[in-house]
Amino acid sequence: MPIALRKAVLDDVAALESLIARSARGLSFADYRPSQIEGALTGAFGVDTQLIKDGTYFIAEEDGQIAGAGGWSYRATVFGSDARGDRDPSVLDPRRHAASSRAVCVDPAKSRRGIGSLLLERCESEARARGFTSAELLATLPGVRLYAARGYSGGQRVCFDVGSGEIIEFVPMQKTL
Ligand SMILES: CC(C)(COP(=O)(O)OP(=O)(O)OC[C@H]1O[C@@H](n2cnc3c(N)ncnc32)[C@H](O)[C@@H]1OP(=O)(O)O)[C@@H](O)C(=O)NCCC(=O)NCCS
Repeated sequence: MPIALRKAVLDDVAALESLIARSARGLSFADYRPSQIEGALTGAFGVDTQLIKDGTYFIAEEDGQIAGAGGWSYRATVFGSDARGDRDPSVLDPRRHAASSRAVCVDPAKSRRGIGSLLLERCESEARARGFTSAELLATLPGVRLYAARGYSGGQRVCFDVGSGEIIEFVPMQKTL
């Protein structure tokens, strides 16, 4: 079946939380321990409803079922779900700042079929249309493989405290749009 993209709406939040958890557990186990993944699912990984309200979070559907999701942002917060307290909704100036790529995830049963790339292309084209000339993100280790294949370059790994004594590593990456 062809993959169709649509904007996420607030009624999708429960299904998106479930997708993000499935995706993290099913596609990150080679990079992170289960305790790191469960820690990250309490805040670092999850839905940021600001993106849905902004119309910058997209769902990929196949045969009416959610196959993946991903978004971008023109706001200062660079990652994390509503559960994190350190949100900064300031609107970025595209002449001075990079757009953020945010939270691309795919159903484990549908990985390596180009769905992550499709979502990323849509986000990049929307960010370009809003005047941004670059995009950046904090990539998970599984995410690095997708983003590197899509032209992003990475810096040094950074450690992030996900609570319960667990640290996970992300890689800051960026791309000229
Ligand atoms: C990262 C993720 C979104 C990739 O989604 P996807 O739909 O499988 O990606 P694509 O099919 O578009 O892959 C495009 C290219 O990226 C690279 N790539 C993606 N996943 C890869 C993997 N597991 N191993 C090696 N290369 C990979 C390949 O070059 C691939 O092209 P190819 O399949 O023709 O070789 C998915 O693995 C995922 O949901 N991971 C868990 C959640 C997560 O960490 N998301 C990233 C947040 S920053």
